[in-house]
Amino acid sequence: MLVTSRSYVEYEAMFDLTQLPESVLDCSAGGSSFTAEAAERGVDAVAVDPAYELGQSELVDTVRRSLPAGSGIVDQNQGSFVWHWYGTPERRDELRVEAADRFLQDIAAAPERYVAGALPELPFEDRRFELVLCSHLLFTWADQFDEAWHVAALRELIRVSSAEVRIFPLVVQGTGEPVSFLPSVLDSLEGVTWEVRKVPYEFQAGANEMLVLTRS
Ligand SMILES: C[S@@+](CC[C@H](N)C(=O)[O-])C[C@H]1O[C@@H](n2cnc3c(N)ncnc32)[C@H](O)[C@@H]1O
Repeated sequence: MLVTSRSYVEYEAMFDLTQLPESVLDCSAGGSSFTAEAAERGVDAVAVDPAYELGQSELVDTVRRSLPAGSGIVDQNQGSFVWHWYGTPERRDELRVEAADRFLQDIAAAPERYVAGALPELPFEDRRFELVLCSHLLFTWADQFDEAWHVAALRELIRVSSAEVRIFPLVVQGTGEPVSFLPSVLDSLEGVTWEVRKVPYEFQAGANEMLVLTRS
C-alpha cells in the first residue's frame, strides 16, 4: 500500500470541512500535510499511521516513492478518473509534492503530532478527538481488508471520537467499483447514526460521497 500525501485543500473537499473543531485525528494519515496545516490553524491535530514506525530516512524514501506510484494507479485506470476538481494532472502532482514536503518538515519539527499505530487498535483513550477523519484506507482497500476487519476498524474509530467520524472514499481504489459489504458493515454498527453524504470532491468517477458516523 502506498503512503500518499494529500494536502489540506484535498481533505477540505473530500470531507466537506468548513470549520474544524478543537481536536482532530487523521487516521491512516500517511504523508498527508493535513495535520501540519490544521495545527497551524490552532487545532489540536494528531496523525496516526503504521508507517510512522519507520526510521526517518526510510519514511522519507517511502513518501517520495509513493508520489510517482500514485500517479501510476491513475495512468493504469484512466477511464475511471475525472479531472474537474484538480483541473490538470500537473496541478494534482504539484499539490502532492507540496503536501509531502510539508509533512516531512512537520514530522521532523513536531514529532509528537505523529503517532505510530494501526487499526483496528489505536493507541488513544476513548473519545479523545472531536472529529476523526480517515482518507483512503477503509473501503478503498477492500481487496486487502475483509468485512470483519472493517467492522472492527469502524468501532475503533468511533471509540476514539467524541462526536463524529468521516470516511472517504467508499469505493475500491483504481476501478472505482462499489464495496459489496458496505451495507452489511453499516447494519452491524451500534450506538451510532450513519449517513452517506455528498462532498464537493471527485477524482475517481462517481466517488463523491463520504460516510459520516455520529454518536447517538
Ligand atoms: C493510500 S494511503 C492514504 C494516506 C493519506 N490519508 C492520504 O489521503 O493521502 C493509506 C495509508 O494507510 C496506512 N495504513 C495501512 N494499514 C493501516 C492500518 N491498519 N491502520 C491505519 N493505517 C494504515 C498506510 O501506511 C498508508 O499511509
